[in-house]
Amino acid sequence: MKVIVVVGARPNFMKAAPILRAIAVANEQGVPITPVLVHTGQHYDALMSDAFFTDLNLPAPDIHLGAGSGSHAVQTAEIMQGFERVLDRVRPDVVLVVGDVNSTVACALVTAKISFDAQGSRPLLGHVEAGLRSFDRAMPEECNRVVTDHLSDLLFVTEESGLRNLNNEGVSPNRVFFVGDTMIDSLLSCERAAGHSTILQRLGLATSSNGAAAHKQSYALLTLHRPANVDNRTIFLEILEGMCEMTATQAVIFPAHPRTQKMIQQHQLESYFNFQNGHGGRKRDAKEARLTVIDPLGYLDFLCLMKNASLVVTDSGGIQEETTCLGVPCVTVRENTERPVTLTKGTNIIGGTQRDTIRTAIRQQQENQSHCRSFPELWDGKAGSRIVEILLKQWRLHSAVPPAELLTGSTSSSLES
Ligand code: UD1
Repeated sequence: MKVIVVVGARPNFMKAAPILRAIAVANEQGVPITPVLVHTGQHYDALMSDAFFTDLNLPAPDIHLGAGSGSHAVQTAEIMQGFERVLDRVRPDVVLVVGDVNSTVACALVTAKISFDAQGSRPLLGHVEAGLRSFDRAMPEECNRVVTDHLSDLLFVTEESGLRNLNNEGVSPNRVFFVGDTMIDSLLSCERAAGHSTILQRLGLATSSNGAAAHKQSYALLTLHRPANVDNRTIFLEILEGMCEMTATQAVIFPAHPRTQKMIQQHQLESYFNFQNGHGGRKRDAKEARLTVIDPLGYLDFLCLMKNASLVVTDSGGIQEETTCLGVPCVTVRENTERPVTLTKGTNIIGGTQRDTIRTAIRQQQENQSHCRSFPELWDGKAGSRIVEILLKQWRLHSAVPPAELLTGSTSSSLES
């Protein structure tokens, strides 16, 4: 079985790594699976991509499409053209896409429409992290999720809400598999290594004694990258104002996405920050501005920073899940989440995007000291191996199924797990 695994943007790398590891384990046990890692190049900066290959022990991509940035249409089209050539050349049995970024939907579209022969043979398409819904179609990721799910033959679901959403949308349950969360597989397998990170010392948040961190300073962590939050000056300002009460009493570390760093300058919001990023910027007295911008971090440094933070404020999806498992309180600066299990079982609350709602959410989290680590159903570090097991089984079953019947549900008995 030849499996293409697609990655493109930062949050894809930790979701794909456990699948590649599970394939390697299967190989060691004599199961013949050939993985082909395709990097679309959606994220290309060393800090947004290369660092993750090192930290997650990912093999170098077999194929790099070099797509880069652009409008949604340009980026998606660029990836589609490159990926179609890859499929024609590699002829995989299975294509696995992960998450909800433009690379995910672009490669799903190509796979669903390709035809290798007159019978319309094409690879099986699997979507890892299927079924999540924010019900907010203004989010590009929501469009990507819906389209990818409805094109996929095999839908790998991370949380119970995903099963409900797919059922409500009429997706045949025979295509849906509740497997857990590969992002949490990565967290669990890298936690020990992250404990050796020196990021706290490098940022002056802890002194080091005999290699162990001592005298830790309390700090909060901020991440913001969504265009809806940072491209709009009014909303960006609301978020910063909503955090002012906290920044008056506590250091806040802000590893900023390249887009966000550009926007800080474009919106002339520099006075809110102390810059410790590689691109210079105005260095301010840390007492004057306790919100410190640093460059994006690698996986292990970020995991260490997140685990030791007193609070995380974020607009990321994955961080809501990671803070839940780490037992760190999280305030999501969005109006919704596609990951409701982090609200019901985890440490996350919705803070909205207005200064008052954000301030209230932060206070609520600061007052609630009862957070502990929480692992929603099947978030047990084994999602990657479950996916590989199901792929093998489904591929064997599918070999006997005419391609035209894949998505119609007429194959329901043969696709049953
Ligand atoms: C993408 C995903 C988002 C994910 C985020 C994680 C989509 C629609 N969005 O958003 O879901 O949460 O990745 O980071 O796919 N840039 C660089 N260097 C890079 C990559 C990007 O400077 O390596 C800058 C470019 O100016 C680019 C901008 O960031 O135009 C946005 O990059 P893009 O890939 O379009 O989307 P993200 O905002 O990163």
